[in-house]
Amino acid sequence: MRRIAFLSVLFCATCHIALGLSIPDGLLPNGDFEYGPKKSELNGTVVLGRYAVPKWEISGFVEYIKSGQKQGDMLLVVPAGAYAVRLGNEASIKQRIKVIKGMYYSLTFSAARTCAQEEKLNVSVAPDSGVLPMQTLYSSNGWDSYAWAFQADYDVADIVIHNPGVEEDPACGPLIDSVAIRALYPPRPTNTNLLKNYGFEEGPYVFPNTSWGVLIPPNIEDDHSPLPGWMVESLKAVKYIDSNHFSVPEGKRAVELVAGKESAIAQIVRTVPGKTYTLTFAVGDASNSCEGSMIVEAFAGRDTVKVPYESKGKGGFKRAVLKFVAVSTRTRIMFFSTFYTMRSDDFSSLCGPVLDDVKLVSVRHPRRMY
Ligand SMILES: *[C@@H]1O[C@H](CO)[C@@H](O)[C@H](O)[C@H]1NC(C)=O
Ligand SMILES: *[C@@H]1O[C@H](CO)[C@@H](O)[C@H](O)[C@H]1NC(C)=O
Ligand SMILES: *[C@@H]1O[C@H](CO)[C@@H](O)[C@H](O)[C@H]1NC(C)=O
Repeated sequence: MRRIAFLSVLFCATCHIALGLSIPDGLLPNGDFEYGPKKSELNGTVVLGRYAVPKWEISGFVEYIKSGQKQGDMLLVVPAGAYAVRLGNEASIKQRIKVIKGMYYSLTFSAARTCAQEEKLNVSVAPDSGVLPMQTLYSSNGWDSYAWAFQADYDVADIVIHNPGVEEDPACGPLIDSVAIRALYPPRPTNTNLLKNYGFEEGPYVFPNTSWGVLIPPNIEDDHSPLPGWMVESLKAVKYIDSNHFSVPEGKRAVELVAGKESAIAQIVRTVPGKTYTLTFAVGDASNSCEGSMIVEAFAGRDTVKVPYESKGKGGFKRAVLKFVAVSTRTRIMFFSTFYTMRSDDFSSLCGPVLDDVKLVSVRHPRRMY
């Protein structure tokens, strides 16, 4: 079924009429909330009326926040433009968009916590949904961008971002800004590389104006990864970075392992038991003042290698290799960072080693080497 859907997507990618009707990559209409409610549809900051925010449908306690507004002694700053929305308890925002049935899409949005409580957001496009935990702050300015992906079951998609929280203070809820979409073209393994999306080039939309990357949240049961081919295991996110804002070893994109052993990135590949394989990959730093001794641990089935990297925080990388004999028809390739690292210019931002250009090939004639 999957394959048929995929082929029909490929076919349709050449039919411009269908593409023209579906949503282009980038911000959703009023995805940055710069168009706000009329004065008569606001009570202070509280939005009155389901359709008061242009292009969106809201429900529950939603506030329209202007950058620079104060909450207690906290100054609320907005990443794109001058406005954002805040979702109170059980509040949600929804937008219906045209998509291509069968196609995979990734959503990227920026969110910030405003109170100390544990916050999460439930992002959904029926029947898919994902709860994104927001208790870890990865950027010190409070804002992080998150990615989530879905496969379109219909030719319209209702994107819903919902705050399932029940806090004592209804105004304690996350701020949301810059909701964007990108169609994904899941890559396939090739003759020269058994890994899909080896250079992380295919992935979620990255905002041209934000310099903090995009978090790929832990994706335990979700096979629709915003980073096609890859799963994020464990509890925390990995960061998706681009060459416009960071140093990346190869191509335009890479991942930064920002959460130590709490966040592993993995892919399962088909292997032939008894056959010898080589896994090669690049380990570096993103040129984001992430300094110090780092180690990336790579696993292939039962084999493992620790790759030390001395980072000066100014960019650079080295290549590493793990040679192994497959013991099963499926081998889990996995990476994590041994240590936690903080940026030297900003002790509240998590950072870590960069991983890129991951290649897996079978060694054709291992016997000849002996
Ligand atoms: C505006 O909010 C205040 C409380 O903050 C409330 O007393 C008042 O009734 C609200 N006005 C409208 C029109 O909802
Ligand atoms: C998230 O939202 C979807 C759609 O409303 C719902 O089906 C799902 O149960 C929600 N998940 C959680 C954990 O609240
Ligand atoms: C990026 O920033 C520039 C200049 O600040 C602005 O003109 C442009 O609209 C911004 N683009 C987006 C997508 O926010």
